[in-house]
Amino acid sequence: MIALNDIHRMFRSDEVETTALRAIDLEIDEGEFVAVMGPSGCGKSTLLSTLGMIDRPTSGSYVFDGAEVTRMGEAALARMRRDNLGFVFQSFNLIDELTIAENVELGLVYRRWAGKQRKARVEAALDRVGVAHRARHYPHQLSGGQQQRAAIARAIVGEPRLILADEPTGNLDTENGEQVMEILRSLNREGATIVMVTHSPAHADVAKRVVNMLDGRIIVSARRAA
Ligand SMILES: Nc1ncnc2c1ncn2[C@@H]1O[C@H](COP(=O)(O)OP(=O)(O)OP(=O)(O)O)[C@@H](O)[C@H]1O
Ligand SMILES: [Mg+2]
Repeated sequence: MIALNDIHRMFRSDEVETTALRAIDLEIDEGEFVAVMGPSGCGKSTLLSTLGMIDRPTSGSYVFDGAEVTRMGEAALARMRRDNLGFVFQSFNLIDELTIAENVELGLVYRRWAGKQRKARVEAALDRVGVAHRARHYPHQLSGGQQQRAAIARAIVGEPRLILADEPTGNLDTENGEQVMEILRSLNREGATIVMVTHSPAHADVAKRVVNMLDGRIIVSARRAA
């Protein structure tokens, strides 16, 4: 599904140059569940943004389903993201002024589906993560765990093949973190490919493969025995 080849990402400002990714080679098959670990600043989020086609590498090749992503224009990238990707962030990123259902519907924003079909999809996604009873509430009226589950509903409402999660349990207590991991695990069982950044060894254990990063490089990529 994914092949990164010799990916570099440099950030340049007036005086400093930071290398966030160095010589990254990574292949991910459809259906994998990959955990990305490593110290703060080692490039995990940059790697995820690269996979998510949000951040463009400075050099190297990124092939997704046989297509060279680094050569695509903005419109083609937007289409690729819409059709294939779902994002989950540490800080939920729900919009305060919209209800939970409206937030989840944003996950369908570029899809030309009829209103009725959208509503059904939104309801199914909310139901899936156990917050359907909070559909008409606003984000601040929900607990952190509920907000993150709503954010997952937004990510999966378009039925993405690849889910990118950046420390999805980072702001949650143990119990809510477990619930989020259980949802991710079941999405993976149903076929979604997942790449998740985490600082939690226990949560990384849920993944079938752990990629360890240090200073912009992948230092270990180990598959766990099934
Ligand atoms: N937009 C940017 N401009 C300049 N430097 C950046 C930018 N984004 C990231 N960096 C730098 O790239 C490096 C990798 O950052 P990244 O956010 O990928 O780390 P991370 O592994 O996700 O860290 P954390 O665990 O703290 O989230 C850091 O040194 C960071 O300062
Ligand atoms: Mg990060």
